[in-house]
Amino acid sequence: MSYLKQQRPEKVTVPGLRASKERGERLVCLTAYDYPTARIVDEAGTDIILVGDSVGNVVLGYDTTVPVTLDEMVRHTRAVRRGVERALLVADMPYGTYHTGSDDAVRAALRLIKEGGAEAVKLEGGRTRADVIRRLVDEEIPVMAHIGLTPQSVHKLGGFRLQGKTATAARRLLADARAVEEAGAFSIVLEVVPREIAKLVTESVSIPTIGIGAGEFCDAQILVLHDLVGLSFSRTRPRFVRQYADLRQAMTEAISRFAEDVRGGAYPSQNESYPLPAEAAAELHTDPILDPEDEIANGHRSALNDQAKC
Ligand code: KIV
Repeated sequence: MSYLKQQRPEKVTVPGLRASKERGERLVCLTAYDYPTARIVDEAGTDIILVGDSVGNVVLGYDTTVPVTLDEMVRHTRAVRRGVERALLVADMPYGTYHTGSDDAVRAALRLIKEGGAEAVKLEGGRTRADVIRRLVDEEIPVMAHIGLTPQSVHKLGGFRLQGKTATAARRLLADARAVEEAGAFSIVLEVVPREIAKLVTESVSIPTIGIGAGEFCDAQILVLHDLVGLSFSRTRPRFVRQYADLRQAMTEAISRFAEDVRGGAYPSQNESYPLPAEAAAELHTDPILDPEDEIANGHRSALNDQAKC
């Protein structure tokens, strides 16, 4: 197990997160979308794993998160669940699953919790979502809120841009943060907002803020895993993405070497295939075409033998 996991072996829980904020501990969050990425991210000691609806862009090849369905989220959450032991597992509620009323929201969230194995759900929006958040929390479903740049609102926002740039917009963000905290959210994602506003929000609420493109003052930081390891195919790289590895390059090199070896006959070697046991080899050597189950061939063979005897 990795360094981080040895340092922090205890299971991460929703109540534990507030205590982490009080102690001034910085939390580490990442996305994961399947069993292998979940294993790697959890074993590396990540505190919160989000099955983000970014699965739409990153894994499923959609342009935005808008088309992601609840069935897709449930499937990916189940796969991640099997790979996570320590981190808190949060699943995104996809677009359309909490916009038509609180009952629908509860039904969708319960699928992510019961079928997917998530321990909490995340949804986008501030004051306008306070009632839904309150209802989910009343039904024992922990909620992570998400304000600032909310990718599900891409068509309304007209693109993926810095939010909270004016004093009025910043005041609205602060009001959103207070409203979701008051409604019972246990944490707030702040996406692509000026660092000063993120600081103000972080100091104004008692639940942890989780920044993505929101600067250093947040209580936690989250990135999309595929951005961090260089497996992202998006046309632009936002300035907040720090790429720590180039897995796309590493995978392309590995695949090219495999192709070269196959074409040149260097793969597979003898050690990469299975020898026939000596006894069977000896038997085959004496009669290479005798198949005890091949009645036609054996009938033909005994007829030949009979002819030879005459
Ligand atoms: O879907 C996602 O991955 C997210 C994070 C970027 C916060 O919402």
